[in-house]
Amino acid sequence: SITHVVLTGGIGSRLWPLSRKSMPKQYLSLFEGQSLFELTVNRNRAIADKIMVVGNVDNCHLSKKVMEKSNLPYVNIVEATPRNTAAAIAFAAFASDPNDILIVTPSDHIIDDMDKYKEAMDEAVNKADNGFIVTFGIQPTKPETGYGYIERKGDNVLSFREKPNEITAMNFIEKGNFLWNSGMFCFKASTFLEELKAFQLDVYEASKIAWEKNKEGELDYELSMAIPSISVDYAVMERSKKIKVVASSFVWSDLGSFESVYDYLVAKGHPIDENGNMAIGTDNYTAFVGVKDTIFVFTEDANLILKKKASQDVKKIYTKLEKEG
Ligand code: GDD
Ligand code: MG
Repeated sequence: SITHVVLTGGIGSRLWPLSRKSMPKQYLSLFEGQSLFELTVNRNRAIADKIMVVGNVDNCHLSKKVMEKSNLPYVNIVEATPRNTAAAIAFAAFASDPNDILIVTPSDHIIDDMDKYKEAMDEAVNKADNGFIVTFGIQPTKPETGYGYIERKGDNVLSFREKPNEITAMNFIEKGNFLWNSGMFCFKASTFLEELKAFQLDVYEASKIAWEKNKEGELDYELSMAIPSISVDYAVMERSKKIKVVASSFVWSDLGSFESVYDYLVAKGHPIDENGNMAIGTDNYTAFVGVKDTIFVFTEDANLILKKKASQDVKKIYTKLEKEG
């Protein structure tokens, strides 16, 4: 059977102050009344038999509310604390039958063209059935440093490189046979666990112990803290030899940083001035003088002004505020 695993543990700290610990970006009702989380669940309705939501104790009530309303069969895995995506996916795999096919997706992407999406998923399920870990490749349009890059020949993956620096990313794009990693994956539960065990044994073992002691899908805090925090991209994708890629032609956008939100909003007709400045979250007229490519984000209790280029650094502010309490 096919399970859609929805990862929803992230806080979306690069979108602070729009995104908060108590209201991460995937639950904001931004898209004609729907949240990115709802859009993600609905997109995979016709593809998977069941849904597994892997989320955080701080906001699992938000996903539960959506799932109750959806009338879909679902399982909730509740993390006591975020331990990154390698562990989050491991929990889902431990909770599944070894032969189950898992389609793992984030809950914060915009995807258009359902037919092409379904086509890509069908192809991926086929490859996963044959024991491969399938990634979905997106044609890159700029040397984005927040993504993973897939070097490929046909559907074979020659190498996977997570978050390269800008010079390396430019190099990859020039070479021409690199795709962006969309952050979605498809594999048999057993294939994933074998590869995790082979390449990141510490995460495999600690998440196995934590999973075995779960109480109705809820993980224990102390046992979770013992799991090394590493993303699946570094832990498995960069190292496994069983990776395949499905080059995907659906419209894909990761609203991961203000730069991508900016691009998305511009495409939707949100105003910018002649110097590329944009205000988000206010109906007030906002003037920009002597600045270029600047984004101004207003919320009720916090504002953010940033250079569009520095979008990846917003996380640092979040981390700093978090430390200061
Ligand atoms: N349950 C759970 N627990 N989910 C998590 C956790 C966790 O500890 N940490 C992150 N997630 C969720 C996030 O909410 C998001 O939906 C997804 O996992 C990916 O995490 P991100 O933090 O958004 O990763 P990224 O954007 O830096 O990089 C990934 O996505 C890119 C495309 O958007 C990588 O896979 C890149 O290679 C890829 O290009
Ligand atoms: Mg992301």
